[in-house]
Amino acid sequence: MIAIGCDHGGLNIKNAVIDYLKENDIEYKDFGCDTPESVDYPIYAYQVASAVAQGNADFGIICCGTGIGVSMVANKVKGIRASVVTDEFCAEMTRRHNNANVLCMGGRVISEETAVKLADIFLHTDYEGGRHAKRVQMITDIENGNFNV
Ligand code: RB5
Repeated sequence: MIAIGCDHGGLNIKNAVIDYLKENDIEYKDFGCDTPESVDYPIYAYQVASAVAQGNADFGIICCGTGIGVSMVANKVKGIRASVVTDEFCAEMTRRHNNANVLCMGGRVISEETAVKLADIFLHTDYEGGRHAKRVQMITDIENGNFNV
């Protein structure tokens, strides 16, 4: 299941990604927002990130104007590795190397077509583990206050 949400700045690309999820029979829960009226992105980003962190969703997708604000919020939630992605290479690499569990995109940065392509790559790329596992564990250690250098 995919948790998805946005603010007004990301509504257009969120709707495009939801169309893609529907067309591909990918289960999702939409946390809003639903209209172009101005809203506060932390409300939506927090709900999506919490759904992932609590194990109620496999991945999260959050859209705002730039993808930046929602990524800042999501990365405050324990267990979340959220990435702002604007191109296909980074969509693939943040899954393969960082084991990202939340994809953040900006409706004022990328087109609807690009957002769908990036979501498709993100949702269909596996984490490699191996040498990357140690580094991802370090991120978790920092989150837990257990990282000593
Ligand atoms: C809203 O105007 C805008 O600040 C928001 O969508 C996002 O880009 C914040 O990072």
